[in-house]
Amino acid sequence: MRIIEIGERFGLEQLRERTVPDPEPGPGEVRLRMRAASLNHRDLLMIRGRYNPRQPLPLVPLSDGVGVVDRLGTGVDGLCLGDRVCPALLPTWPAGEPDRAALRRGLGGPLPGVACEFVIARPEQVVPIPEHLGDFGAATLPCAALTAWTALVSHGRLRAGDRVLVLGTGGVSVFALQFARLAGARVCVTSSDQQKLERACALGAERGMNYLTEPAWGEAVRLWSEGGVDHVVEVGGAGTLAQSLRAVRVGGTISVIGVLAGTATQLDVLPILMNQVRLQGIFGGSRASFVEMNRAIAASRLVPVVDTVYPFGVEGLKAALGHLESGRHFGKIVLDYGVT
Ligand SMILES: NC(=O)c1ccc[n+]([C@@H]2O[C@H](COP(=O)([O-])OP(=O)(O)OC[C@H]3O[C@@H](n4cnc5c(N)ncnc54)[C@H](OP(=O)(O)O)[C@@H]3O)[C@@H](O)[C@H]2O)c1
Repeated sequence: MRIIEIGERFGLEQLRERTVPDPEPGPGEVRLRMRAASLNHRDLLMIRGRYNPRQPLPLVPLSDGVGVVDRLGTGVDGLCLGDRVCPALLPTWPAGEPDRAALRRGLGGPLPGVACEFVIARPEQVVPIPEHLGDFGAATLPCAALTAWTALVSHGRLRAGDRVLVLGTGGVSVFALQFARLAGARVCVTSSDQQKLERACALGAERGMNYLTEPAWGEAVRLWSEGGVDHVVEVGGAGTLAQSLRAVRVGGTISVIGVLAGTATQLDVLPILMNQVRLQGIFGGSRASFVEMNRAIAASRLVPVVDTVYPFGVEGLKAALGHLESGRHFGKIVLDYGVT
């Protein structure tokens, strides 16, 4: 099979393609013929060596993909040939609260990822996907969609009428917008780009705000929401948290998800305690939450927003990562493995 790997050193230019023997499933395992993958900001950090500089190399990158079961090992229960499934981002987190080890065992680093033609997995480490989704949409679910779902639904207990602030229009954020609308929430989206704000409004956002021309957007969001939003989907991190604290209501929740605007800052903690704000760290989600999310996606026939599709291969992946890094995308960037 063809695999793409980060070679002896980190860096986009260090990505290489090799052909290795096709893997065979052992007892209790299945083999997936991969059909599509999608990119997350985490993949970019992993490949650049910024996610974990001590990650042993070589490494097959990418956490998110969809494949079809094409071989069954002996004694496999619960999966059949032809089933279309996604490997779980955190394969040792079945449900409930994770332990530290489960959170450290992600696909695409430190575990081998899905940038290869075949993946071996156990049935309890994969999740069946909603039937109405094509391969490109299905490939976007394991990290971006599940993270947004965990933030707003599993932890956030979102209710109809809640007011939600979504930062930016990348993979996690567009899913957060879609899930919030599904639950009957009112959504404000920030973006650096007017056309993206218009697209967010077409998806149901009530208010768009340009965070470049309106750097004090926290106050504007508080005005829009008449006292502050119930939830903030915080993907900016250090550079945006102070404004998010302006935007949230007394007793509201900020889901701390990403670090697009940095990891460290000087922060005045007074607003957190004076306003009883809940800061909830989010890291992916459990398999049980993935199943629950897919049930909602199937029932509502929600369709993930795919920005661009690149062909599987080292050149396709490099081009896709360059596109992700540019920030020009809206939603998700996908790799097509060319399997019909
Ligand atoms: N904790 C977790 O489990 C988890 C899971 C997934 C992702 N993440 C993290 O969450 C973040 C987002 O991931 P992603 O894959 O969705 O990224 P992405 O698709 O690359 O998102 C990029 C978009 O974020 C927006 N953005 C960039 N800087 C911003 C800023 N200062 N303020 C507001 N928006 C900004 C931009 O939107 P506009 O172009 O509209 O301005 C940009 O296009 C990353 O830090 C990632 O590592 C964490």
